[in-house]
Amino acid sequence: MSKTNKRRSSNWYGKMDKDGFIHRSWMKSQGLPDHVFDGRPIIGICNTWSELTPCNAGLRKLAEGVKRGVWEAGGVPLEFPVMSLGETQMKPTAMLFRNLLSMDVEESIRAYGIDGVVLLGGCDKTTPGQLMGAASVDLPTIVVSSGPMLNGKYKGQDIGSGTDVWRFSEEVRAGDMTLKEFMAAETGMSRSSGVCMTMGTASTMASLVEGMGLSLPTNATLPAVDARRMTLAHLSGKRIVEMVEEELNLSKVLTKESFQNAITLNSAIGGSTNSVIHLLALAGRAEIELNLADFEKAEDIPLLVNLMPSGKYLMEDFCYAGGIPAVMDQIRSHIKPANTILNKDITHYFDEAEILNKDVIKTFNAPLKASAGLKVLRGNLAPDGAIIKPAAATEDLLKHEGLAYVFEDIEDMKANIDRPDLPVTKNTILVLKGCGPKGYPGMPEVGNMPIPKVLVEQGVRDMIRISDARMSGTAFGTIVLHVAPEANVGGPISIVETGDRIQINVSQGLLELLVPESEIEKRLKSRKQPKENYTRGYAKLYIDNVMQADKGADLDFLVGKDTRLPSRESH
Ligand code: FES
Repeated sequence: MSKTNKRRSSNWYGKMDKDGFIHRSWMKSQGLPDHVFDGRPIIGICNTWSELTPCNAGLRKLAEGVKRGVWEAGGVPLEFPVMSLGETQMKPTAMLFRNLLSMDVEESIRAYGIDGVVLLGGCDKTTPGQLMGAASVDLPTIVVSSGPMLNGKYKGQDIGSGTDVWRFSEEVRAGDMTLKEFMAAETGMSRSSGVCMTMGTASTMASLVEGMGLSLPTNATLPAVDARRMTLAHLSGKRIVEMVEEELNLSKVLTKESFQNAITLNSAIGGSTNSVIHLLALAGRAEIELNLADFEKAEDIPLLVNLMPSGKYLMEDFCYAGGIPAVMDQIRSHIKPANTILNKDITHYFDEAEILNKDVIKTFNAPLKASAGLKVLRGNLAPDGAIIKPAAATEDLLKHEGLAYVFEDIEDMKANIDRPDLPVTKNTILVLKGCGPKGYPGMPEVGNMPIPKVLVEQGVRDMIRISDARMSGTAFGTIVLHVAPEANVGGPISIVETGDRIQINVSQGLLELLVPESEIEKRLKSRKQPKENYTRGYAKLYIDNVMQADKGADLDFLVGKDTRLPSRESH
């Protein structure tokens, strides 16, 4: 059997019978000539372009760049759409649909006659959703990201996606900013296609993808509208054809070491807390043992990147300062040998890197913050773990004891947070329930609940907030997230009452409800299960099968992979 006959796509286009006729003939309706079905690699371009996902609005053009590269290398590019998840547009939360996108990607790749796939994504959930789906099929796979938006501008200053929205909205509530100024900032913030240009979840995931060797170098930081991104798309198209020839499947790049490198890099860039949940879910698909303990025992890596929300610059500045290769060069002694889509070790990505602006990218010996990794907290309030991002928190609050003020659900919080008589002080610990994977459903980014208005007026800008929710990667504050098990499944967070004392000690990894065990048990026994709002469709499937945050909030039946060819023809 010749090598080309071993290609996956030959099971569709290589047959000289009725089935082959049908597969080829209908494709020829697009003007494809006979010779493109001679056994050359068929490359799927999996596109999350959508006008409802403005962050991914540039992907149509990038797909053209990929196609140029595929044709040049002797492959056949075929673009296909998958569900797109617009983080700022979808209700109740785009995270509810991450697993649905992954199913769309997985089944599309499996059902069609393609040999390799290019994933075009960018907005927060599109990158992990696409990779999760692709990992469950395991073809040669390469990522091309949307790239970040240009820096936001307001009154001559750079402003950052998300981060400055949270800041401005607090200033409006405090009476320090007018509504007119607020609207002007809204217009100046998002000036081009591309993803949030702070180190939010989208740029975090693109950075980790680059650091894991799943894309070409510089993929994370080149601005969406930079011509060099089109060049990168072209080169990625060329490379995926070579990857098919080399039989370099995704599983040969996605290894335990590449996940460990992602955890290390996430600390150095001050990456989003959401990366934890996405990496856990992706590892589950790739059948790699990864759990919260891997984040807990990760080495203490300093924060090197001076980007919002932990610092002051934006992705455009990061790109011009040297980007991910320059950061990886600084932490090279902590990076493990790992293969990449270039079929070369990851060191190849940063061998010639240099820092071009030392205020944006700090050196390992003179970092922005000495310790920056995400911390895992455990205790009787979070037996299966919770997450905090110390780099975005207030130092003094990282060891604290205070009385809880509890919101039973998001509606309770929204209705009461601005009450002038809310009995809270800057030492109060706000607790929000009902925002976990099953409870909301979809585990939204509401963990960074606003500071109560009475405290904003006193000048308070941060306090401890605890929830079973996530938070936007662009947000900041002393915020404990992903408390597991969540309230909706009877986790201890469900029985916290206003006035209970809570202890947090980040350096010791502790999160304790200082209520006697007998009282906790009594409350858990008398707890009432909240009524379910969703009784049909995908949301019902999700609620019935979603796992908790410490397992990546994937659907339990999607864990693992199935690399077999579809066994039956369609006709
Ligand atoms: Fe799409 Fe931030 S909203 S990347």
